[in-house]
Amino acid sequence: MNGVLSGKRIVLGVTGSIAAYKAVGLLRLLTQAGASVHVVMTDSAIRFIAPLTFEVLSGHPVASDVFAGHQEMKHLSLTEQADLLVVAPCTANTLAKLALGLADNLLGTLALTVQCPVIICPAMDGEMWAHPAAQAHAQTLRHRGAVIVEPEVGSLASGEWGQGRLATEEAIMSTAVGLLQCRTDWQGERVLISAGPTQEPIDPVRFISNGSSGKMGFAMAEAAVARGAEVVLVTGPTHLAAPKKVTVVPVVTAEEMLQALTVRFEWATTLIMTAAVGDFRPKQAHAHKLKKDQWNGEGLVLERTPDILMALSAQRTHQRLVGFAAETDHLIEHGQAKLTNKHLDMLVVNQIGGEQSAFGNDTNEVYVLAPGSAPHQIPRMPKRQLADTLLDRILSLPVQPSRQKVVSFPTP
Ligand code: CTP
Repeated sequence: MNGVLSGKRIVLGVTGSIAAYKAVGLLRLLTQAGASVHVVMTDSAIRFIAPLTFEVLSGHPVASDVFAGHQEMKHLSLTEQADLLVVAPCTANTLAKLALGLADNLLGTLALTVQCPVIICPAMDGEMWAHPAAQAHAQTLRHRGAVIVEPEVGSLASGEWGQGRLATEEAIMSTAVGLLQCRTDWQGERVLISAGPTQEPIDPVRFISNGSSGKMGFAMAEAAVARGAEVVLVTGPTHLAAPKKVTVVPVVTAEEMLQALTVRFEWATTLIMTAAVGDFRPKQAHAHKLKKDQWNGEGLVLERTPDILMALSAQRTHQRLVGFAAETDHLIEHGQAKLTNKHLDMLVVNQIGGEQSAFGNDTNEVYVLAPGSAPHQIPRMPKRQLADTLLDRILSLPVQPSRQKVVSFPTP
């Protein structure tokens, strides 16, 4: 990472969490990468760790008090020149303040003046992070363009097990590098991505679906657009906010997803199928709600949905085709079969089931399969970071002659 952030000015906001000491490690990584880091601490952060530690390691005075006179007021200009604001760790209290735009301390005040990208790294008790208030604040900040590096699952300061640990310094660092490096290697590419589950109706209130959250597909869309691609995201029902600058096409059933992807397939240079497409649907969807005293559940007949990837693969002209497999066992064996049968350029194999299931988690570890290559394991990392790693590999896939065809279309 040496030198990748040279010339960059970063404001590191540290708040009053037990994880405040981890900001020291992050500061070291950022400075080793060449960034000039200015630390802003809240009063509660100062109760956990002495500002002197940050001053020595950053080579700059620590700012904490908005009313501390001329010297501190100068720090209000800090964010004007900043390339990045990172808040790590971010307590539930600061998360709420940032979402609401409260300016009762220096960090909150600075956050209101920033023009640069913002990374927020929450750290708190698992129940606090899961609380609808904290989730809503995180979502508000995402909507405003902040990148939330989600806390990790593990043992917490309370002794409990849950999602609340500050993300690793490496994960935060790689998000910072990703945002600041302004990679444009996907410029000129048109990427069609499917995400989320599909829902197949039984009647107007019941449906068959699966546990896909859509997070991997949304992360792929966010990463591709950040690297210069034009992106259309065809997504089944999820609770995720649309990534900025991505055209989102909502669908519900596998048939709708097939239609939405088919009409855009010729436009695309790459198709990435992260969607967990339902394989079965009721043969007959009832127009009225089935009353339980009139139906005992018998006679629900299912039929197969179309295999979208297989259908599009048969129509391929120039597109790269990337699939995502959901497997519970024999990952490589089942994955290789799908790679071959669906004639894909790459297949990403996810493990489904158990605590570390790819479904719903913010992190993932996968195997990448490609024709003629040995399986490649990518270790567990945040899905956003994994998306960048996968985009690197997709770009390096050998170019098929038919793929060189240049197609020029407006975004569908
Ligand atoms: N897929 C698809 N249409 C389907 C089912 C799957 O396009 N009806 C795509 C998925 O989006 C994914 C890939 O095929 O990219 C593999 O999906 P997966 O669910 O792992 O495998 P299936 O082909 O459905 O096989 P099985 O359920 O038997 O494992």
